[in-house]
Amino acid sequence: MIKALFATPALFLLALLPQTPSAPDAAANPPLVIPAAAAAVPNPVKSTPENQAFAKKVYGYDCAMCHGPKGDGKGEMVDSMKLTMKDFSNPATLSGRTDGELFWVIKNGVGQMPGETGRQTDAQIWAMVHYVRGFSK
Ligand code: HEC
Repeated sequence: MIKALFATPALFLLALLPQTPSAPDAAANPPLVIPAAAAAVPNPVKSTPENQAFAKKVYGYDCAMCHGPKGDGKGEMVDSMKLTMKDFSNPATLSGRTDGELFWVIKNGVGQMPGETGRQTDAQIWAMVHYVRGFSK
């Protein structure tokens, strides 16, 4: 019993020792692993002037601070959060991605990017996929 009382604080101190820091880049951009089933889902929502106007508004609130108002990855948070961003205005950037993949990332997030789950409906997120693709058109 007395031994146990002395052992516990020792373990606690061990936990406080500095951990080996991980590379900052790896923390900011973890590999994007999208389930194959999610990637195969086609976009069930057609682009309309109404849903694109809504997507533009939400993008301004929830996305532009990182991805930039033009989708070029030059958002105002990028430096302070040490983010490495892609340029969505370059057609090559998202050409290899399916709509299902973009939907999955926007819904679930990746690394320091929060997902839109609970903020937008699935239909609104599908409409946002069209909006994000529009940056390279
Ligand atoms: C806190 C910063 C941040 C916010 C806010 C954010 N993102 Fe991201 N997003 C990232 C980072 C970092 C990545 C990974 C690097 C990259 O793809 O640019 C990423 C990746 C993505 C990708 C995947 C790109 C690829 O690799 O194919 C999409 C699509 C995307 N974001 C869209 C959005 C949309 C739409 C919103 C708003 C609903 C949003 N993001 C909000 C930081 C952010």
